[in-house]
Amino acid sequence: MTEIHQHIRAYYSPEDLFNKIKSALVESGRGLENLTLDDLQPVDEFHIRGQVATMELIKLSGFSADMHILDVGCGIGGSARRLADVVGCRVTGVDLSEYYIATADALSSLVNMEDKVEFRAANALDLPFSDAVFDGIWSIQMNMNIIDKVDWLREQYRVLKPGGRLVLYEVCGNVNVPPYFPVPWAQDSTMSNLALPEVFKDHIVAAGFKIEAWNDKTALAREAFSQVQEPCDNHELPELGVHLLVGRDILYKAYNLRRNLEEKRVSLIEAVAFKPVDG
Ligand SMILES: C[S@@+](CC[C@H](N)C(=O)[O-])C[C@H]1O[C@@H](n2cnc3c(N)ncnc32)[C@H](O)[C@@H]1O
Repeated sequence: MTEIHQHIRAYYSPEDLFNKIKSALVESGRGLENLTLDDLQPVDEFHIRGQVATMELIKLSGFSADMHILDVGCGIGGSARRLADVVGCRVTGVDLSEYYIATADALSSLVNMEDKVEFRAANALDLPFSDAVFDGIWSIQMNMNIIDKVDWLREQYRVLKPGGRLVLYEVCGNVNVPPYFPVPWAQDSTMSNLALPEVFKDHIVAAGFKIEAWNDKTALAREAFSQVQEPCDNHELPELGVHLLVGRDILYKAYNLRRNLEEKRVSLIEAVAFKPVDG
């Protein structure tokens, strides 16, 4: 593993994460009995517009119950569980962070979904799978941590069956640079690599895919973050939230994301591509 991957993995490696989530569920009054996916949503769907965006992606994906889907950069597994639950398909998630993977497994047991989803710690640039084994792939807001985007996309192309779909929901750059840091995916510029949407599209095609759908979701992202205020030093946080994943400065990160969206320093795209049958 390269130095940059170690650096990124360290950012996404909170100690004792599962116990912290369990304590937060108890302290918030929810408790640990009969938990639903909605109860976990404040912490386990770590992307812009959370569960709402995941449901849109599920609809767009065309994934069906007979499929085996790979979630690349799955975090603690919220979107993988949601996909398996709604569609009925089998989902395997991979993530660089062993801490997140251990938590993804433990949370899946907590909501009795351990037979529907499985998780493995792995680098998305070197997936531990044979060629052409997955019926579909999705990746939700992880490309920002990847420098070699074509290599990352080629690796997904390799493990996807011919005819299979790749669904992406990704933060890209925009006309103004640089973005303000920290942001939810990066403490500073050493961890973030944003391609302009048109360049990102070219990368997808260069990896061998054909583009089927391309939706600009920037306006929806801007709306979702429009109320985020600059935090004061002694700001309070809810018990359960993504601060458990990436630190208590999450409100500064959210505020910077608002500024980056409003000042056209980042954009958000949703895409579907497919691997040609003769690919
Ligand atoms: C912003 S989080 C999104 C997590 C998840 N997709 C979600 O929506 O909840 C980005 C994730 O990408 C993972 N990641 C970053 N670089 C990676 C790599 N090279 N291989 C695998 N996972 C990676 C991080 O560990 C982190 O969990």
